[in-house]
Amino acid sequence: MYTELAAVAMIIGGMTVAKAATNVTKADFGRTKEGTPVQIYTLANSKGMEARIMTYGGIVVSLKAPDRNGAMADVVLGFDSLKAYEENNSPYFGALIGRYGNRIGHARFALDGKEYTLEKNNGENTLHGGSHGFNTKVWTARQLPDGGLELTYVSPDGEEGFPGKLTLVVVYRLTEANALEIGYTATTDNPTVVNPTNHSYFNLKGAGNGDILGHLVTIHASRFTPVDVGLIPTGELRAVKGTPFDFTTPHAVGARIGQKDEQMQFGTGYDHNWVLDASGGKLALAARVEEPETGRVLEVLTTEPGVQFYTGNFLDGTLVGKGGKLYAQRNGLCLETQHFPDSPNKPKFPATTLRPGQKFQSQTVYRFSTAPAAKK
Ligand code: GLA
Repeated sequence: MYTELAAVAMIIGGMTVAKAATNVTKADFGRTKEGTPVQIYTLANSKGMEARIMTYGGIVVSLKAPDRNGAMADVVLGFDSLKAYEENNSPYFGALIGRYGNRIGHARFALDGKEYTLEKNNGENTLHGGSHGFNTKVWTARQLPDGGLELTYVSPDGEEGFPGKLTLVVVYRLTEANALEIGYTATTDNPTVVNPTNHSYFNLKGAGNGDILGHLVTIHASRFTPVDVGLIPTGELRAVKGTPFDFTTPHAVGARIGQKDEQMQFGTGYDHNWVLDASGGKLALAARVEEPETGRVLEVLTTEPGVQFYTGNFLDGTLVGKGGKLYAQRNGLCLETQHFPDSPNKPKFPATTLRPGQKFQSQTVYRFSTAPAAKK
């Protein structure tokens, strides 16, 4: 294990000012079933915030953020050991998702007139790139001089049924502004589709400290993509106004989740893609989550056009998480920034096609702060 202090200096008016000082440490985190060694990197800023990310799945294993009194808590769900991530059939806790985030309907799509058949790993459909998605791969890591952690995965042509050899480079950075930034860059040698995301489950009270039903959520989206019973978008962009999907103003997750609504029933809660109002490819605020008891606030910024808001509906209390805590239904929420599900089969959705010579680039920021207690 070694430590490296990466400090970026900025010169302002002849004075040198330290802009960012990310302390990066690296340690072994065991070996996969196949015997591949896995490392875990700890990114820490001078405010006490800390992100631990491992090379298996590019998984954010833990993320410590302060509450309004400065007390730190690990705000993402996960496991203590690599073995648990491999064997517990992890519901993608903290993982990098690829080649295609969320679902592709009927596990097939056509590109340039050619049909591609994928794995049906979610009913009739493909979920998160198939059962051997990027979340199960050991990524190649490199520490960047500015304190960033670069992870690279090269997906061979035909892997999980997708055409083209795809190279995905993801850079994680922890900033002095208490933000975990994730940058994605993808290139291919043949036409393909790509839709990467990160699948962290947040609980701003701390992982394992109960449900997220009291978290106040705002999503800057006036439309969402309704789904069929298999959670495949119908193709419609539906206004959220007048529905339990309207988070244009803050609402507690639990306030409307039990309503008799067909979409809510299909999702067993929230498990839908919101169409972000600011989807111009510029980094913009997509969502905000505030936890009233601790005051922790998470803001999600992205260049992506959509966000999958998923309320941990499939967690059932059987998974033993970090520190031996059990994760029950709705104990975590995901805000997976992405292109819309099933875009390869929905010509009217923003395209997810990537061709040789093109570069897919996107950025997502998970920024933490605190809010004062509400006056009683
Ligand atoms: C995504 C999906 C959900 C669920 C989770 C993982 O968020 O939309 O339906 O499959 O991943 O459990």
